[in-house]
Amino acid sequence: MCLGLLKTSIGKKQIVAVTGLLLVIFVIGHLIGNLLIFGGPDLFNAYAATLKKARPVVLLIELGLLGIFLTHVLVTILLVIENRKSAGFTRYAVANHRGNISLATQMRTATGLFLFGFVIWHLLDFTLINHEGPRSLMNNQSLGLYGVVYNSFLSPIHSLLYIIAMGCLGFHLAHGVQSLVQTLGFNHPRYTPMVLQFSRFFATLIAIGFSSIPVYVLIRG
Ligand code: HEM
Repeated sequence: MCLGLLKTSIGKKQIVAVTGLLLVIFVIGHLIGNLLIFGGPDLFNAYAATLKKARPVVLLIELGLLGIFLTHVLVTILLVIENRKSAGFTRYAVANHRGNISLATQMRTATGLFLFGFVIWHLLDFTLINHEGPRSLMNNQSLGLYGVVYNSFLSPIHSLLYIIAMGCLGFHLAHGVQSLVQTLGFNHPRYTPMVLQFSRFFATLIAIGFSSIPVYVLIRG
């Protein structure tokens, strides 16, 4: 069925929309889990331990997530190539009307590519390292994953890179959420402005929510 959808432009858009929606659900869950860091090392590490205990299920979800993420990226690349080919002769007209397109929409490919790079770095940074190793030490005592995250954000450069990535995520979601709502059929002139506003509000909330963690660590020191 998926292969059939790949044959048409609207089919590809639907794949990007559904995978995008699933990624949005992950991002909401991930943000809620990460905000537990404000509850201190015990609460955050208890959350990490619960995820570890449920390892087989979590691994299955992570593999699914990887498939969804790669599908989202690859099918978007196919759409961009297709759009560029078909828009070739109207590029001048498109360029002339760029002023009417929101910044988030103009930057969707750039923010998407940046996020792709961010996720790879992020996995190397937090997931694929020893959670009890040197980066977890605070006052010569291992504070597990809490220590890893906290110590990382004590570095202003590390924090700044995360905050920039969260800004990109916000921009990407501001375009992506309203776009996926329309692609999945909720497309009525009366509701479009509301969907657009909700999309921007939601994206801002997510970007501020994630950014609050490095900002908190930097302020607290
Ligand atoms: C301040 C922002 C963030 C913090 C503090 C954070 C923290 C973490 C931590 C601690 C882990 C490792 C979990 C473990 O190994 O048990 C992790 C994994 C992960 N993060 Fe983030 N994250 C942030 C933002 C993001 C964003 C914006 C995305 C996606 C766009 C993301 C995607 C992932 C993915 C895909 C994993 C691997 C799957 C998982 O272990 O849940 N993270 N993150």
